[in-house]
Amino acid sequence: MTQRIFNFSAGPAVLPPEVLEEAREDILNLRGSGIGILEHSHRGKPFMEVRDETERLIRELGEIPEDYHVLFLQGGASMQFSMIPMNFLKAGATADYLVTGHWAKLAAKEAATLGTVHTACSSEDHNFNYIPKNCHISAHPAYAHYTSNNTIFGTQFKSLPNVPASVPLVCDASSDIFSRPIDVSKHALIYAGAQKNLGPAGVTVVIVRDELVKRGAPNLPTMLRYSTYAENQSLYNTGPTFAIYLVGRVCAWIMRNGGLEAMARKNEAKAAKLYNYLDSSKLFRGTAEKESRSLMNVTFVTGNPELDEKFIKEATRNGLDGLKGHRSVGGVRASIYNAFPSAGVDALVQLMRDFEAKHG
Ligand SMILES: Cc1ncc(COP(=O)(O)O)c(C=O)c1O
Repeated sequence: MTQRIFNFSAGPAVLPPEVLEEAREDILNLRGSGIGILEHSHRGKPFMEVRDETERLIRELGEIPEDYHVLFLQGGASMQFSMIPMNFLKAGATADYLVTGHWAKLAAKEAATLGTVHTACSSEDHNFNYIPKNCHISAHPAYAHYTSNNTIFGTQFKSLPNVPASVPLVCDASSDIFSRPIDVSKHALIYAGAQKNLGPAGVTVVIVRDELVKRGAPNLPTMLRYSTYAENQSLYNTGPTFAIYLVGRVCAWIMRNGGLEAMARKNEAKAAKLYNYLDSSKLFRGTAEKESRSLMNVTFVTGNPELDEKFIKEATRNGLDGLKGHRSVGGVRASIYNAFPSAGVDALVQLMRDFEAKHG
C-alpha cells in the first residue's frame, strides 16, 4: 500500500484503509459484474442491491424504527438548512433553533429567510465554547433544530437537548453520526453530510419519520420535497451512486468492528488521550468548556497564534496533516472521527509533548 499519513481533516476526512481497498476492487469490477461501481446504471440490479444493502446497514446500526425513511440526498448538509424549513415551516409558524456554533447559526439564518425563527438558546456570548444547559422552547414550534456536534468549536451535546416530546426534534448530525449510539425514535429528522463519519462527500443521509414526510409542503419543486425521495427509493433522478456504495462499505466496517457502542468506546478512549494531555499541559489549552468537549473535534491553542502556526507546520513536517483550526477561530483542531486511528492520536500527543519541551 502506498504511504499514508495521519489525516486530521475535519471533512472530507480519513476513511478506513480496508474500505478503500475494497472500493479499489469494486471501482474496476463490482462483485464480479464486469462493470465498476462508478459505471453501473442507478436503476440496474447490481446498484439496486448496493443501495438496498446500504439502507439495511444504516437501519441495523441506528436501530431505526420501521416508520422512518432512510433517504440519500445531494446538496450537502447545507441543502438541508433550506429543505427543512421549506418543507416543515408553514406560514405563521415558528421554528426553534439551538444556536451552538457556526453551522447551527447558518441553519437558523437560512430558516429565517423562509419564516419565523426563535433562538431557543445560544452560546455565541462565549464564542460557542459551550453547550447551553437550558433552552427556551417557544409555545408550539413547527420543530426544534440542534447540531449534535459543533465541528468548528469542538463542542458536542452529551445528551438530547431538553425539548418537549411533542415538538418534532431535528438534528444536524453531520460530524458525529454513528460515532455513538443514537436514539432515532426521539427525533423527527436526522441528517448528516457523509464526508466525516460515513463516507465521501456527495451524499447526505436523511433519516425521517414518515408522518413528518407526509406533512411536508406539497407545492415545492419536486427535488426539494422529502416525499419525492421517500416515494422513489431516493432514485427519482440519478443519485450519488458511488457515495451511497461507500457509505454502505463504511457501515459494514462499523458493524464488523462492534457497532455503535464499540465506536463510542474507541472514540472516548482516543479523545481522552488528547484531553488528558491538554489538561496537564502548561503550553497548550483546550478551547471548549470541559463538560461540552467533543469526542470528534478536539480544539486547542497555545495562546500565541504564531506558536500555533509553528506547531501546525511542525506537525505537517512529521506527517500529521489537517490540524489547522477553522479559519473563523484559528488555533489547532484535531478531527478524530471513527476511522481515525488511535496511533495517530498517540503521534499527536507525542509531538505536542516534544513541542512543549522546546517552547513551553
Ligand atoms: C455540523 C455541520 N453541519 C453542516 C455542515 C455543512 O456541510 P456541507 O458542506 O455538506 O453542506 C458541516 C460541514 O463541515 C458541519 O460540520
